Order: sequence, then C-alpha cells, then structure tokens
Amino acid sequence: MGRRKIALIGAGQIGGTLALLAGLRKLGDVVLYDIAEGMPQGKALDLSHVAPVFGLDFSVTGTNDIADIAGADICVVTSGVPRKPGMSRDDLVKTNADIVRSVAAGIREHAPGSFVIVITNPLDAMVYLMQKETGFDPKKVVGMAGVLDTARHEAFLAAELELSVNSVSAFVLGGHGDTMVPVRSYTTTNGIPITKKISDERLTEIENRTRKAGGEVVSLLKTGSAFYSPAASAIQMVESYIYDERRLLPACAQCNGEFGVDGMYVGVPVIIGKAGVEEIVEIDLTDDEKSQFQKSVEAVQSVVDIL
Ligand code: APR
Repeated sequence: MGRRKIALIGAGQIGGTLALLAGLRKLGDVVLYDIAEGMPQGKALDLSHVAPVFGLDFSVTGTNDIADIAGADICVVTSGVPRKPGMSRDDLVKTNADIVRSVAAGIREHAPGSFVIVITNPLDAMVYLMQKETGFDPKKVVGMAGVLDTARHEAFLAAELELSVNSVSAFVLGGHGDTMVPVRSYTTTNGIPITKKISDERLTEIENRTRKAGGEVVSLLKTGSAFYSPAASAIQMVESYIYDERRLLPACAQCNGEFGVDGMYVGVPVIIGKAGVEEIVEIDLTDDEKSQFQKSVEAVQSVVDIL
C-alpha cells in the first residue's frame, strides 16, 4: 500500500499545527496549500527539519497551486479569514463562503475521492457549503467542532473534579457557537452521572464557560483564535477515518431526519470509519436538551440563510 496523502487547505495557525501533528503521528505525506506566497513553503521547509530530530521520515511540502493536492486521501480545510474589527457576522460569512467555494472547486477537481474535514468558521454553514459545492457524498464531508467543544468541556470538568481527563466523558452537540448543547444527561465520570458529583448551579457555570471557551482564548491571544486544540481534534477525526477505527465522535454531519433535522449540517454523534460518516447515532435527549438543540439548529439555519 502506498503512503497516504493529506492535503491541508490553509496553512495558517491551525494548518501548520495540523502538519506538525500529522508528521509526528506518521499519518502520511502532507501538502500544505495556501494563497499566501512563500508561507506554506516556508512552514514546510521548517517542518521538514523536524523529521531528523525525531527520526521520522515524514514528507511535508508547501504550495500555492491547489493542483498539488491531486489524489489526496483527506483534505482538512482551514482557509478563511478571522473576523476583523468593524466586520459584521454577515460580512464574515460572505467572505469565508467565497473562500470555501473557491477551495471546494479545487478539491472537487483534484481530490474527488477525498474525505473532507472543514474547520473554517462559521463552521456549520461552511461545511454545508463545502458539501454543496463539491457535490460529494455527504458521508465524505464533515465538520470539526464537536470534538473540540467536548474536549474543552471535559478539560473544565476534569479540573473541577481534580480527576484525570480520562475519567470524564461528555458530549457537546448542536451548532458551533454560543447555542451549542453540552448534553448533561450523557456527561459522566466513568459512567457515574455528572450530576452526582457537581451541583446543577456549578454545572451551568461550567457549561457556559465551555460555550464561550473559544472567545476566552481569543480575548487572551488578542491576535488570533485557538489553534492547538482545533488541530488536535481534527487529527482524531483523521485517524478514525484512515485507520477505520469507527470512533463515536461528536461532529458536524448532514442529518436526514435524525434528531428531527432534515438536510442540514449540525453537530451530532457520528461514527467515523473508512466510509467517512458511517452512522449518525441518535440518543435520547431530555426535554430541556431537545429545546436547546432546536434553538441551536435555528441559529445554524440563520447563518446558512445568509449564504
Ligand atoms: N485559499 C487558500 N487559503 C486561503 C484563502 C484561499 N482563498 N484565503 C485565506 N487563506 C488562508 C490564509 O492565507 C491563512 O494562512 O487561510 C489561512 C487561515 O489561517 P489563520 O488566519 O492562521 O487562521 P487559523 O487560526 O488557522 O484558523 C482557520 O479555522 O477555527 C477556524 O475561525 C477559524 O475560520 C478560522 C479557521
């Protein structure tokens, strides 16, 4: 079997971190693509010098020509612009939609068999657009948000309980924004309901922190948004696909009736294996969680409507 090819569309903060992690975890040959001239080549050159340090034969190349992603097995898309002062949310949606449309055309042409993971924000709308523009089977187009939102929630819960992160299990569903739904009824410490360990009031505070964690990072960094954890989260999805692990992960997938959602992309529990999104796993939500999820779906729809 030949080496796998991983195309990173966007070589910014997340794209560069993805390339490093993909190299360290020996996932395959990485192509870093970006419109910024020289930047992906520079990062690739720098990364190629990591290889001898760790004794890893990984190959990373940088390019400004999207044709170089030809035959990629996986495309991870981070190309986009961050929201700038004075830019409305609608402006951001339209700008990033144009960028997603242009890279979708390149992916459709050069990597028609690839599994596409979108990270560009506003996430749910950009994944929807990617599927529409590539015309790929929706099982092969997915968004990374739930793994990250869940990881943030688990990190906060583990810190609260002074427990290993391995002993905390949560699920954050819905859209990737303030309306996301940390599903309390499925949050446990090794199966013990979280409500037995943390008061409802304190849980609400932690859930709200999770919802705003991305913004908390932005306000500290001042010059950008989170990049280590989004990259790590996408790598987990890549590994589940390439190794056919069939992990159950929260991810932004196209629902066809599941959770009462038809034809829309939103964060739900999915199984990722060699066919891409192999199954959407419906779980029973409490009435309160159902109504939170419904509100989140409506928020996603309002962004999609801008497109
Ligand atoms: N084609 C290719 N690359 C592009 C294009 C385009 N048309 N337009 C912009 N880019 C590139 C930029 O040149 C930049 O290098 O996308 C890259 C984005 O990188 P960063 O600005 O560093 O952003 P990053 O932190 O990596 O986040 C990327 O993920 O989490 C989301 O909100 C975040 O939408 C943002 C995305």
